Amino acid sequence: MQTKRGLQLDRVVLLGRTFEEYCRYFLLKPDDLVGKRVLDVAGGVSSFCAEANKLAINVTSFDPIYFLPPEKIMERSEPDLESVYRAIGSVPTYRWGYYKNPEYMRELRKRASTMFLVDYKTHPERYVAGELPRLSFADGEFDLTLVSYFLFAYQDRLGYKFHRESILEIMRATRGEARVYPTVTFEAQPSDYIPRLQSDPALQRFAFTEIKTDFEFLVNSNSFLRVRRN
Ligand SMILES: C[S@@+](CC[C@H](N)C(=O)[O-])C[C@H]1O[C@@H](n2cnc3c(N)ncnc32)[C@H](O)[C@@H]1O
Repeated sequence: MQTKRGLQLDRVVLLGRTFEEYCRYFLLKPDDLVGKRVLDVAGGVSSFCAEANKLAINVTSFDPIYFLPPEKIMERSEPDLESVYRAIGSVPTYRWGYYKNPEYMRELRKRASTMFLVDYKTHPERYVAGELPRLSFADGEFDLTLVSYFLFAYQDRLGYKFHRESILEIMRATRGEARVYPTVTFEAQPSDYIPRLQSDPALQRFAFTEIKTDFEFLVNSNSFLRVRRN
């Protein structure tokens, strides 16, 4: 059996990224999204929804943690950030260009969760509680759906069937396209679910394309998966 080199996580952790990080790794152009309806699936404590709405991008965030009140979310998120911060510096599967060092990464994650928390309290209507593989939205409600650091990254925990059902459900609720990032596991290995999704008879009406970017933190994470209707 191969020795694991990546970050060892015993569950899906509650860490949040900022609007700028989403824009970098999803290649988003904020001006093009003004007035559009965007769904952030597994949005967690990311500040993407809060910051995007300030720019008149109509983002809804979806995550099971939104069943919880703000203080309970922070009770879970803060220890998750501390344990990742302590472990990540010695893990060989990260490139530190953008984040510089674990301290700066922690600062960005705190910035994100602080902005999230303020927005979660003031605009609870933007945060919808629920769990993939089901979404509580109407068919074609969103122009664009994003999934950051949930599918593929946690594939060992979630399984192939979960990924297939999630993609079907995401595309049901999306009239435009979906983008999933990263396309690698925490071991920095390309997800073997992507070729399986591409050849899955249940998904033949969709086109899956890996789009390269210049953003890489987790090694080999310089691409996202775009899903469109054929
Ligand atoms: C690592 S965080 C990513 C947060 C955010 N997308 C980002 O990149 O900053 C993973 C998120 O997945 C959420 N999650 C766990 N199970 C889920 C499910 N079945 N459906 C949707 N989200 C789920 C967790 O609550 C957590 O907020």
